[in-house]
Amino acid sequence: MHHHLLITNIGHLFGIEKTGKLKARFSGEEMSKVESLDHAWLYIEDKKIHSFGKMADMDLMNAENVFDANGKSILPAWVDSHTHLVFAASREHEFENRIKGLSYEEIARRGGGILNSAKKLNEISESELFDISLQRLHQVMSFGTGAIEIKSGYGLSIEGELKMLRVIKRLKETSLIPIKATFLAAHAYPIEYKQNHETYLKLILDEMLPQVVDEGLAEYMDVFCEQGFFSVEETEKILEAGWKYGLKPKIHANQLHFSGGVQVGVKHNAISVDHLECVGEDEINTLLKSKTIPTLLPAAAFFLGMNYQPARKMIKAGLPICLATDYNPGSCPSGNVPLLLTIACTQLKMTPEEAMNAVTINGAAALEMSHELGSIAVGKNANLILTKNIPSLAFIPYDFGNNPVEKLMINGSFI
Ligand code: NIG
Ligand code: FE
Repeated sequence: MHHHLLITNIGHLFGIEKTGKLKARFSGEEMSKVESLDHAWLYIEDKKIHSFGKMADMDLMNAENVFDANGKSILPAWVDSHTHLVFAASREHEFENRIKGLSYEEIARRGGGILNSAKKLNEISESELFDISLQRLHQVMSFGTGAIEIKSGYGLSIEGELKMLRVIKRLKETSLIPIKATFLAAHAYPIEYKQNHETYLKLILDEMLPQVVDEGLAEYMDVFCEQGFFSVEETEKILEAGWKYGLKPKIHANQLHFSGGVQVGVKHNAISVDHLECVGEDEINTLLKSKTIPTLLPAAAFFLGMNYQPARKMIKAGLPICLATDYNPGSCPSGNVPLLLTIACTQLKMTPEEAMNAVTINGAAALEMSHELGSIAVGKNANLILTKNIPSLAFIPYDFGNNPVEKLMINGSFI
């Protein structure tokens, strides 16, 4: 059965792209522009955007379903390309310890951090893990997320990693929004392998990876390339093995130090390198010569009280900046994209337009989905946000702490 829907009286239709010049990503100066129409209509046919225009020019009066937006606005749903939303338990005790002066790295060295989450993850049942993860997914959707990436990485054992990835697979089957899964067994060395990296690497490469691919549990491969976690050499080994199995790299790079993560990610054709608190001229030049997308996670820097990513320098250099939440129990226990936009604007000095492009079209690019998501263009999926009554795009990051989303539309249906 064909499904048609005509939306009328849209206050602002933000993030449109006219056919014929669709872009896979917006880079540098292009990021500063969000094309829009005021007093607009939008026609959806078979889950996809069919056409749009100004109310004054509308000649589609015979649509079977009409929804009157009543002056409210529409924009592409957010694409959150980096999250760890499958986790077993919160970690507010570490949050308190940081307030008292302990650093994120010191907490990790003492066996907290990722290892704390791994302990809890290995104790919880798969069905309970699924239930709480589904709740989190619904919560981020209520803030406008219309596609998402989710990582493993709190199992750090064969059973634990597979448990997480099977939960992500079930989320894919249950949820209406597109989900991409990333295999991140190389997130931290379990205590028993701290002095024996070889053995854990063998476990990842010889035991976990074949099974993950065999069960079709992941699209991407991730490594936390960082001092005290995985070295550049170890990262290379893992990425090479991932490519052999058809898993493309999206890696954690340059969060805590100038670790060489950006360079090794680019060298191995990573789809994206993510975090990037520590980025200088060399990292920028390396990225400029590549197709790898730099994904900034400033909500994590905000929550940990760390230095922010040099977004202005990177945009000025001409890079395509992507923003993502990093939703996880340690460094960013929030998957709230509107709040992320506020942080990007106030702390990274990104303009509201740049921030919006970074989490729509460039978010889609970071998940290799910009041909079907990330902008309002003919033929793309109708994964859209219907906002509350907002006067402008800038109002979204300005009105911080509040939710601009009235309804989320996935595949042409309001949910
Ligand atoms: O992206 N930095 C590595 N991984 C996650 C946080 C992991 C954790 O603290 O649980 C991140 O920040
Ligand atoms: Fe992360």
